[in-house]
Amino acid sequence: MDKKVCILTGANAGIGKAAAELLGLNGFHVIMVCRDKKRGEDALTKIKQSNPSISLELMIADMGNMESVKKLSEEFRKKYTVLDVLIHNAAIFNVTQKNAVHTAEGIETVWATNHLGPVLLTSLLLDNLKQSDNGRVITISSKGLLAKPLLKVDLKDPEYKSKKFNIVNAYYQSKLAQMIYTNWLSKKLKDSSVTSNCIRVPAVQIDVSRHPELSSFMKWVYSQKSKNSITPQEMAKTYLFLAQESNLSKITGEYFTEKNRVVDQGKYTKDNETIKKVMELTNSYLEKYGVL
Ligand SMILES: NC(=O)c1ccc[n+]([C@@H]2O[C@H](COP(=O)([O-])OP(=O)(O)OC[C@H]3O[C@@H](n4cnc5c(N)ncnc54)[C@H](OP(=O)(O)O)[C@@H]3O)[C@@H](O)[C@H]2O)c1
Repeated sequence: MDKKVCILTGANAGIGKAAAELLGLNGFHVIMVCRDKKRGEDALTKIKQSNPSISLELMIADMGNMESVKKLSEEFRKKYTVLDVLIHNAAIFNVTQKNAVHTAEGIETVWATNHLGPVLLTSLLLDNLKQSDNGRVITISSKGLLAKPLLKVDLKDPEYKSKKFNIVNAYYQSKLAQMIYTNWLSKKLKDSSVTSNCIRVPAVQIDVSRHPELSSFMKWVYSQKSKNSITPQEMAKTYLFLAQESNLSKITGEYFTEKNRVVDQGKYTKDNETIKKVMELTNSYLEKYGVL
């Protein structure tokens, strides 16, 4: 493969789809990881119709299912040795969700999809990232966390087993965990050529037609919100920047805005004791896969 290889999860919609197109247009071979074959094929076909020469490939995986993530890593490793960029874009956040839902493996879905799946996938592909001249792991967090300054990862009950489920807190908890993971990974890989950085995504327009569960009122709320939101295409430019900018080859453990600037992430996600505890918790879920 003469092109740089990028795995991009959640690539059939929103920012992921826009980023697949932009990365492809900029010379990457993009492996679009989607959980639904038809939605993945439709997105790939649509991008290809506008840009026939770009290099895209579909792999199917449910990022909330650890066996599925493991199979994805095996499928990748059968075909490729080198992985240049791994972007953990896929995430779930259904504002209408009232109760905890569990995956077939029995893990609360937000925690599994937005945090555990990305950690497992990185871990299983670390050797491939190390084969790259400059492997890059890119995680995604949210600017909305600024409105939750006191939120922490619940080390005793991240899955809402003994407290009432709250989708907003479950989502932001998963994003905090991803930031903490990014910082942990950057330290673990400090003597390697692999970097690990996180993007702080602000309000980005969403496609409400993907969310039939939303009430008319919520659709109206989103339409108002979208007036102050950037487009997925604008956001995708930061994904591309972190994936390819040569000046970033040694920059690691940082938090980037949609303007491609490094921003302070606050003390909590950088605190060594917090990082240790959150990663011990994460490992307790994934240890059977030999993670860490
Ligand atoms: N939009 C915003 O305002 C905003 C703000 C802050 C942060 N973010 C973050 O930015 C990223 C992209 O957001 P977006 O607005 O583009 O979201 P989106 O339009 O809802 O797209 C999410 C993508 O992730 C996929 N996905 C969800 N669960 C998956 C799973 N278990 N396995 C594999 N793929 C899965 C979805 O596929 P399906 O079609 O199968 O559902 C879809 O392709 C997310 O990490 C999100 O948390 C977004």
